[in-house]
Amino acid sequence: MQTILTTTAIVTAFTGILAFLLTLANKTIANYGELKITINDEKEHIVQGGSSLLSSLIDEKIFIPSACGGKGTCGYCKVKVLEGGGPILPTELPWLTEEELDDNIRLSCQCKVKEDMKIEVPEELFNVKEYETTVELIEDMTPEIKKLRLRLNEGEEINFKPGQYIQLKVPTYKGNDEEVFKAYSIASSPMNKNYIDLYIGYTGGIATTYIHKFLKEGNRVKINGPYGDFYYHGETNREMILIAVATGIAPILSILRHIKENNIKRKVTFYFGAKTPDDLFELDLIKNLEEELYDFRFISTLSRVKEEHNWTGEEGRVNVALEKYIQGAGNKEAYLCGSPPMIDSVIKVLTEKGFTEDVIYYDKF
Ligand code: FES
Repeated sequence: MQTILTTTAIVTAFTGILAFLLTLANKTIANYGELKITINDEKEHIVQGGSSLLSSLIDEKIFIPSACGGKGTCGYCKVKVLEGGGPILPTELPWLTEEELDDNIRLSCQCKVKEDMKIEVPEELFNVKEYETTVELIEDMTPEIKKLRLRLNEGEEINFKPGQYIQLKVPTYKGNDEEVFKAYSIASSPMNKNYIDLYIGYTGGIATTYIHKFLKEGNRVKINGPYGDFYYHGETNREMILIAVATGIAPILSILRHIKENNIKRKVTFYFGAKTPDDLFELDLIKNLEEELYDFRFISTLSRVKEEHNWTGEEGRVNVALEKYIQGAGNKEAYLCGSPPMIDSVIKVLTEKGFTEDVIYYDKF
């Protein structure tokens, strides 16, 4: 009995000391106080230490792309860290090439601000702004895809290149207690600076559940942007091959609208892939473009055709249609938007046809 009591007393004392040390550690080690982040050797920001570099920058209204909401699963939030930042974490490694590691590139969502830091941020990110918008329209495009029109406040404008994307801030809601940012390509024309259109496919994730199940017309939504190096390259006269599946049509439509509104005379072929006829959308808009554009051809292809669909068009995935119609690389350039497997399969076909890397632009989502 005596032994049991002694052992219990020792364990209790040990646990107490451990708890005290942890509390002390939290109060001292985890309290980093105010720290300085120097950006591009000129701008200095005083932030509260202890948060991720990404969220510290967002607090300072410097928006770094972050499609996964800071979970370390998109690889978008890369920043060059010259000083501070601590050792590289295992969660960063899958996203960084040898070259990037040598160049001190880090994932800003994984890198905590625990000391003064010096970082480099591309100048164009200083043009990224946050906008408070109103949901003007929510429309079903297919059973799984909704169109959102977000209108900016009176007097505000967003300037973007056709093909770029914004990040939508998803607030907490019933069943979700974390705020996340999610990236969506802009489908509307850059000429319309007071609103943007987005297509959101339901995946069951935090953002798409919010948009499909909770968001209503009239609600307020915060966005920031624009971002992205996938955009229309207007400096050539090459024939354009556009390829998209599902919501990947968004940046392609923005590019097509830009071509129409600027009366650009280029030959354009658009391959659009879907599963069934119900998954094709914006066909009226595309039909109009066929009449309005200088030289435009639209090829849709379905991967899950059944007899009752009475489908007479192309069958199979977009890479199959591409294989069939593209004769050679010639004087062409390609714009691709879709899932990683779709992009990889299309790049394979294009490469086999003779396209070189510098004429293939793509946006994997
Ligand atoms: S990896 Fe997605 S935000 Fe950092």
